[in-house]
Amino acid sequence: MATKPLIMKRLLTWAFALTLLALPAAAQRSQNKSTKHTQFVPKEVWTDTDGNAINAHGGGLMYHGGRWYWYGEYKVGQTILPSWATWECYRTDVTGVSCYSSKDLLNWKFEGLALKAEPDDPESDLHPSKVIERPKVVYNKRTKKFVMWVHAESADYGKAAAGVAVSDTPTGPFTYLGSFRPNDSMSRDQTLFVDDDGTCYQFASSENNQTMHINRLTDDYLRPDGHFVRRFVGMSREAPAVFKYAGKYYMLSSGCTGWDPNRAELAVADSIMGEWTVIGDPCTGVDADKTFYGQSTYVIPVNPRKGQFIACFDMWKKKDLADSRYIWLPLHITPAADATAVPKMEIPWRAAWSPSELKAGK
Ligand code: GAL
Repeated sequence: MATKPLIMKRLLTWAFALTLLALPAAAQRSQNKSTKHTQFVPKEVWTDTDGNAINAHGGGLMYHGGRWYWYGEYKVGQTILPSWATWECYRTDVTGVSCYSSKDLLNWKFEGLALKAEPDDPESDLHPSKVIERPKVVYNKRTKKFVMWVHAESADYGKAAAGVAVSDTPTGPFTYLGSFRPNDSMSRDQTLFVDDDGTCYQFASSENNQTMHINRLTDDYLRPDGHFVRRFVGMSREAPAVFKYAGKYYMLSSGCTGWDPNRAELAVADSIMGEWTVIGDPCTGVDADKTFYGQSTYVIPVNPRKGQFIACFDMWKKKDLADSRYIWLPLHITPAADATAVPKMEIPWRAAWSPSELKAGK
């Protein structure tokens, strides 16, 4: 039997050993904490200012009061699939929509969940058993409210609706107002775009993802106003990201292959409701034909007057969605000799790049 001093000695040895084991992890954490990002590094884990991986998938950005806000799907865990499941069944429980803020687009502070799950209400779109995707937030200057639209889904992806939430502050909490099918039509992958005159439009993959609907919204941005068009008819475009440059509208989108990557496509229009003309795939470099293994989600108008944009993609890991990564790349614009013609647009692959590349242009 061990004597008291011997037990004490063993305890001390164990405590010392445990401390040694814990040290590298603690050092790692503090190193992450103090790491200031100076470059975008696509596909790598991107830590926030607390050293945690940024969790904001299928997201969108908003600039307000001198800060950028990044909203996205806060993905935790993974639903275990039955053996007969198809790709459609890869999902995570609804936890909410996260919000991060930044001044430089590189270093992001976690602001918490702007829209929270509602685990106590099985009927709610925000119940963990449902699906909430592709949140986009815009500011309404008239009502002074922040308005969020999401793709609100059932677990089997049959609901195909849009959900709307509002808040008085960019970080929330947003109040969920409910969901509906805009103009009685299906609405899955979606985005919002506010034009210079303050009118807001929702772009949504509709008609079983085959045709894009462009829905003009009411002045408060809470509902469609009834005026809508069907565009990209039968072209199966998803993941729309809309931006405006030199008076023309652009839509970056993906094909329709679930979580699996495919070729990106850019289209242009002189008026937002169209006609839209497909320009082609703007991606260049390694794996460009698979959108670098990403899928579009947003194009950030960093300084649109100067032609500075960042194209944002999700790199989905369908078997571990919470570990999906981000691919942010510069959009290079080369103006055409004829100012009314469509400029050349290119999204080149970069393993790492610094924001100064945007200023340099091409
Ligand atoms: C993709 C879509 C994602 C998600 C996924 C589900 O096509 O872009 O947002 O809905 O399908 O399989």
